[in-house]
Amino acid sequence: MNEFQAREHWQQMYSTRQEQKLSWFEEAPGVSLELLLTPQLDTGAQVLDVGGGASRLVDALLDRGFNRPSVLDISEAALEKSKLRLAGRASQVHWIVADITTWEPDRTYRAWHDRAVFHFLTTEEQRLAYRAVLEKTVAPGGIVVMGTFALDGPERCSCLPVQRYSPESLAAELGRSFSLTTVRMVDHVTPAGKTQRFQFSRFARE
Ligand SMILES: C[S@@+](CC[C@H](N)C(=O)[O-])C[C@H]1O[C@@H](n2cnc3c(N)ncnc32)[C@H](O)[C@@H]1O
Repeated sequence: MNEFQAREHWQQMYSTRQEQKLSWFEEAPGVSLELLLTPQLDTGAQVLDVGGGASRLVDALLDRGFNRPSVLDISEAALEKSKLRLAGRASQVHWIVADITTWEPDRTYRAWHDRAVFHFLTTEEQRLAYRAVLEKTVAPGGIVVMGTFALDGPERCSCLPVQRYSPESLAAELGRSFSLTTVRMVDHVTPAGKTQRFQFSRFARE
């Protein structure tokens, strides 16, 4: 799937479905917050939610006083849902419509979060492009939190094939500049009641 097709796909998903009916919907991003905020992350830190879609992670970051968190997504429709929900607080967020594999960051970030985005990159070329952006976006001393379907998780999501990971295989994919520090295995229950096994890994950028 090329960049244009990916954008069309995700625009269609978010334009035709209610946020609460999407399989990846979660009311509260508990594990993401735990891994981002432990050890404590200064609220002045620049945080980027990659493929954040309509996720409520940004609400939770604003609730905790984080200064202008960034949310990037290939789908403008997804970000519009979050903006509507946040209403007056939407202006406190840096919104970025971009494909993460071709994005050119204009700053570095202290924390990178990705829940259920990287696993859609099923070609070596896409994964290398993602890693190149990650390396120039997160400076040494920064942290990376990534949640993907686990090895015993689903083989598809949102009608698309995915690549499943263990924390170790994800670490191998990111390379030696990122040290695995914390792992959580998580059962996500979809709005339709299905259980999906995720692995969440936290890395320190060397
Ligand atoms: C399964 S959803 C997860 C959304 C969000 N992270 C969450 O936890 O609710 C995948 C998200 O990744 C976005 N996405 C997919 N491919 C992308 C890409 N190449 N660049 C940026 N965003 C992408 C989609 O638009 C969608 O919002």
